[in-house]
Amino acid sequence: MSANETPHTLAFEELEDTPSNNSANPTIGDLIEQRLTRRAIMSGLLGTTAIAATLSPAVLLGGCSSQPSTTPSFNFEELLSVIDDNHHVAEGYNADVLIRWGDKVLPQAPEFDPYAQTPKSQAAQFGYNNDFVGFIPLNGSSSHGLLVVNHEYTNEELMFENIGIQSRGKKRFKDIDEKHVEIEMLAHGGSVIEIKRSKDKWAVLENSSFARRITAKTPMKISGPAAGNNKMKTRQDPHGTTVIGMINNCAGATTPWGTWLTCEENFNGYFWNKNAARKSPDATALKRYGIPAERYNWGQYHHRFNLAKEPNEANRFGWVVEIDPTDPTSTPKKRTALGRFKHEGAGNIINGDGRFIIYQGDDQHFEYIYRFVTDDKVDKTNPGNNKDLLDKGTLYVARFNADGSGIWLPLEFAHGPLTMASGFHSQGDVLIHARLAADLLGATKMDRPEDIKANEKTGKVYVMLTNNTKRNENSTDPANPRADNKFGHIIEITPGGGDHASPIFHWDILVQCGDPEIAQVGATFNPETSEHGWFGMPDNCAIDANGRLWIATDGNTAKKTGRTDGIWAIETKGKARGTSKLFFSCPRGAEMCGPTFTPDMETFFVAVQHPGQSEDGAVSTFGNPSTRWPDFKPDFPPRPAVVAITKKGGGKIAI
Ligand code: FEO
Ligand code: CA
Ligand code: CA
Repeated sequence: MSANETPHTLAFEELEDTPSNNSANPTIGDLIEQRLTRRAIMSGLLGTTAIAATLSPAVLLGGCSSQPSTTPSFNFEELLSVIDDNHHVAEGYNADVLIRWGDKVLPQAPEFDPYAQTPKSQAAQFGYNNDFVGFIPLNGSSSHGLLVVNHEYTNEELMFENIGIQSRGKKRFKDIDEKHVEIEMLAHGGSVIEIKRSKDKWAVLENSSFARRITAKTPMKISGPAAGNNKMKTRQDPHGTTVIGMINNCAGATTPWGTWLTCEENFNGYFWNKNAARKSPDATALKRYGIPAERYNWGQYHHRFNLAKEPNEANRFGWVVEIDPTDPTSTPKKRTALGRFKHEGAGNIINGDGRFIIYQGDDQHFEYIYRFVTDDKVDKTNPGNNKDLLDKGTLYVARFNADGSGIWLPLEFAHGPLTMASGFHSQGDVLIHARLAADLLGATKMDRPEDIKANEKTGKVYVMLTNNTKRNENSTDPANPRADNKFGHIIEITPGGGDHASPIFHWDILVQCGDPEIAQVGATFNPETSEHGWFGMPDNCAIDANGRLWIATDGNTAKKTGRTDGIWAIETKGKARGTSKLFFSCPRGAEMCGPTFTPDMETFFVAVQHPGQSEDGAVSTFGNPSTRWPDFKPDFPPRPAVVAITKKGGGKIAI
């Protein structure tokens, strides 16, 4: 790789993860690398390839006596962390690939052929980079339901033969043409598939009447307070009420009334024309949202992604989209009442008073945590009555106080500083520029808020803060206590009086992540946590029917932590609080997403996103990938896939 070239997705991530300390002092990263190298030499594990997924940790440990005892509530034998090109799951479990990029979703889909991919085939096949996964039972079943899956973004260097790598100077791929762009747009969005379990095997039902692909080209409705706002109007949509497509849908949620909330995250990357942005009357807001980042070639063929041609189009992205997966003809709706930012997820709970609460992270360094409270109550009897529940309510942003308390600040037009004097002329304006409104309210700048989930058993809320290498010694605070926070932390929020709509909350740090054996890292895992049980970069999470917390990570590599991304089970209560155990590990280059359980806790779906992505400075491409997971065919590229984990012989996971 020449000095001015870097793989596309690596460059995309560099946008948000540039180290800030340029001094000659040894960094935490240097110390970690020294330690990992020493351990690799001692154990001979780094670089190990294709250790069978079925090998037990005891076998791999080779009789090592330091294996920790199992923690009380998670009953499984801990997996050994490794870096190789396959996935692994704790002994006694099956982890089967359910569906991969290019597999059939719609009946007309052709067999996947990575050498002859076309827009038409991609439009009917499973999209790329599966992130959020939601299971929607059919007739209350945990063995038969709909799986809704987000397709966040595309890795061109792994999808297309001979496309090369992205030029850092020019930003975009020089060899991407219109056909590639069409495939990219159709590989984005989401999929709805119908799945069924017989014994311990799950299968996708072909020719299901529910099957659906949603893409960057699917017509959608804009609803809520920002619909019809002047900033939402374009040549294509003079009323500001419809939009074509959704992009960069990262995490999400399902709702108690059976819909799918899918969240647009790094939408800034798709827009073009920095010159037009500088001259725009909205230049301040565009800059605040990082628009345009020019990471894709779409603006070359679709003028709406060029700010000079369609200045308002970017305002129509960065929303939470609600989709009814039971009706393939339904129009997805962008719910503007939930605000516009780089949404990670939409973890939700029905409050004690019946109103619906959605917790949301804005995933970028120093961004905020939001909460949405509906005006009306959830109708638990007639799901159809909730169809526009999310159009009316109040959006809040969090301020964390040093004494462990916190306050939710409402983003309401004409209240406090959110007035015309500050440039807001309506509630729609406040929501379109939610980041600017939250700035004025004095919200707390967090270390990249990712998934946030409420625990229905305990009422507590867990916030994944994935990392923040841009925080320095002068900008730490009690809720974000580490400078150069490479490994992230998890905050536990307790709503005031047990009321998720309360204006106040209390907070605590469940764990500061990273290697507990390096004092400078400042990790705070329970000492019972094993060598394999700690992790860095929490991203997504799941809470099972017993109220136990499971963490999915994004960013663990050989150099950073000496392990791949995966799933860790972490205790939140009692003496074992903060004890973590490895359950599943990804193939090299992949990020772990989508953890979700069936209601009976017998199946755990996880999403392996971008297997074989370039990392640790090594370039991985279609022709020479770092793994060919999951097919391991000699001429096939790696393929993102959803994996179904079940217990051998049946039964609940980790019970
Ligand atoms: Fe798409 Fe915040 O991860
Ligand atoms: Ca994420
Ligand atoms: Ca991520």
